[in-house]
Amino acid sequence: MIKAKIKTMVIFATFLQLQVNAQKTPQLGKAPIDVVINAMTPEEKASMLLGAEMHGPVLNGEPRLRVPGAAGGTFPIKRLGIPALILADGPAGIRIEPKRPNDTKTYYATAFPVGTALASTWNTELIEQVGKAIGNEVKEYGADVLLAPAINIHRNPLNGRNFEYYSEDPLIAGEIAAAYIKGVQSNGVGTSIKHFAANNQETNRLSINEHISHRAMREIYLKGFEIAIKKAQPWTVMSSYNKVNGTYTSERKDLLTDILREEWGFKGFVMSDWFGGYESFESLGNSASNVVAQVEAGNDLMMPGMQLQHDKLVNAIKNGKISNEAVHNSIKRILKTVLQSPVFKKQKYSNNPDLKANAAITRQAATEGMVLLKNENNVLPYSIHTAPAAVFGITSYNFISGGTGSGDVNEAYSVSLLDGLKNAGYAIDQNLADLYIPFVANEFKKENDRREKSGGILATPKKMPELELETSLINTKAASSDIAIITIGRNSGENADRQISEDFYLAQDEISLINKVSKAFHAQGKKVIVILNIGGAIETASWKDKVDGILVAWLPGQEGGNSVADVLSGKVNPSGKLPMTFVVDYNNHPSAANWLGTPAANPKDVSYEEGIYVGYRFFNTFGVKPSYEFGFGKSYTDFKYSNISLSSKTFDKEITVSIAITNSGQKAGKEAIQLYLSAPALKTDKPYSELKGFAKTKILNPGESQTITFILKVSDLSSFVESQSAWIAEKGIYNIQIGSSSTDIRESASFELQTETIGEKVHDSFKLDIDLKETHSN
Ligand code: BGC
Repeated sequence: MIKAKIKTMVIFATFLQLQVNAQKTPQLGKAPIDVVINAMTPEEKASMLLGAEMHGPVLNGEPRLRVPGAAGGTFPIKRLGIPALILADGPAGIRIEPKRPNDTKTYYATAFPVGTALASTWNTELIEQVGKAIGNEVKEYGADVLLAPAINIHRNPLNGRNFEYYSEDPLIAGEIAAAYIKGVQSNGVGTSIKHFAANNQETNRLSINEHISHRAMREIYLKGFEIAIKKAQPWTVMSSYNKVNGTYTSERKDLLTDILREEWGFKGFVMSDWFGGYESFESLGNSASNVVAQVEAGNDLMMPGMQLQHDKLVNAIKNGKISNEAVHNSIKRILKTVLQSPVFKKQKYSNNPDLKANAAITRQAATEGMVLLKNENNVLPYSIHTAPAAVFGITSYNFISGGTGSGDVNEAYSVSLLDGLKNAGYAIDQNLADLYIPFVANEFKKENDRREKSGGILATPKKMPELELETSLINTKAASSDIAIITIGRNSGENADRQISEDFYLAQDEISLINKVSKAFHAQGKKVIVILNIGGAIETASWKDKVDGILVAWLPGQEGGNSVADVLSGKVNPSGKLPMTFVVDYNNHPSAANWLGTPAANPKDVSYEEGIYVGYRFFNTFGVKPSYEFGFGKSYTDFKYSNISLSSKTFDKEITVSIAITNSGQKAGKEAIQLYLSAPALKTDKPYSELKGFAKTKILNPGESQTITFILKVSDLSSFVESQSAWIAEKGIYNIQIGSSSTDIRESASFELQTETIGEKVHDSFKLDIDLKETHSN
């Protein structure tokens, strides 16, 4: 009896002790963060700085990824009350596995338009709505952070990931990104703006060393990030794979701490790109990575997390080979984000987002991003006739909704052009469709099998052959149908860049298709429309005169076919404009001279000799005429620009510019208005003009006007002067040009800045590691 009593007392005492211990173990959210961090073992600290992939699919007896198909997650420490953040790709919607084992439910996400399509809307309000819808799916599927937006600059049209990015111009990239981030984060989930910075090619992306001047970094490659981070405070930033001037971006303290945090006030945490900081995938097994340097630079989390990094960090923490302060600060930044996350707040999620409502949003956004390049004799809108449309080109039957790689989305369906046309009530030539459909199915299967065998989502997509049609058949179709629609398609993705031939330029089978169809249809007095289902710029100059209409549909997301039909039918008046230049000749791009770097066989170094002269900044300054200029896009109506007015003729702190836009045509529509500024260039060379503001009107009915107002600040007048490490506005006359594109200027006005003004003095960063000769430097 006594024995039993003693036993009960011992058990009770042990229980009490356990409770006291539990109370002593600080809990995230209850105890101060510093106390929680101080309670961590060196092993736990190292784990917090790394993604949790090295722990395998099961962690603490539970699936490591609550959301199957998410790209990764942070490390949970149960005893300290720290849950794991789930990080999922991005950017065209959340990328997760649509099916789960032993589960009949599906988990499809909406495929939204790709980055170039979103930027082409020039409509930040709309993009905020898109972000809201994407973020809603992130929240409803139980993820915490979306690995998006991606905003690297289109330095060269061949970058395989340009479709994910927005523009050759940092203002549009930054503003669109800010709107996207605000929208996503309004759901209480986070974003990760990427890839910070200058991740401008996929070839040798893990090791490429980019030599870039401080000025080009500030004005071109960082500006978009700066705008988005200051305006929208993304929860996280993803550093890029590449090196800049000899050092990995994930190891650059100037980039991740001095600039990002001290200058711009970024409050969240920085994660590396997946395996960032390693020369190659082959080197993952050796100790080449410098995880200590990454943490000390301010790269808080290394993804996806490897044992090798863990060992190195534990050792460094135990032996004082890493600054305690850096470790502490990085963990603190991660925990601050955990504190605001849905998982920490134990938010319920439905696994049932409103896919129907989001399909309507993607359809609208895709439509608004489409760019009408050509509309000879108002061939469009094309109203429904009794004779069918003859639909050519394999891509018409296998429309491409988005690019490949991590930016791909697992959507439930994708509307082809053919279905979009049919849904809109168009009659199509079924006999032609019957020839195409089996051919396309077979080619698509072959291509899919090839990709499955060579890397899955990371395998580079290849152009599929066109169906060869007899001239006599095309002639018959020209006689029996009303109009010809030809789709030219391009796909690309992570891990490889695009090619010059048969990609930037059309392939022979595509040229021959355009030639034959145009000849046959024009002989019958019928029109030919080309739809460009592409992610970035292609060559148009050599063939555009052969056809009557050209519509850039981009990679428009899962409602693509319906969105195209909305524009063709005139249900929606096109209002998209190009966020990049369509050049005449690939070599017109100054970056073409050293694209992919040296040595050519296996590039290690790329010199950004063009400096700040990227895209229209180059073409408009040096008089290179493009096929379609930056900012170009037609409408079914016309707009008149009038009454430009400035708040003052001399600049003092800021200046307000207003302009009236009137719909002077016959159809209701929206217009994207662009403000360019030409600055005095006495001390520093400057581009002819630079985009300093843009706006989209509401839908204006014929005759209706809207006044648009812009405010210019000293920062808008300034260029970066390396010798002083400062943004400086030169004194002199500034010319404001407001127009419908970068060369179609409708109204202009000037003001004077009477004294040179130093806008902001910043850290002297990005010391060059070679003698970089900029072709057009000051
Ligand atoms: C890509 C990132 C992506 C990550 C996770 C990397 O290969 O560069 O953009 O977020 O994978 O999937």
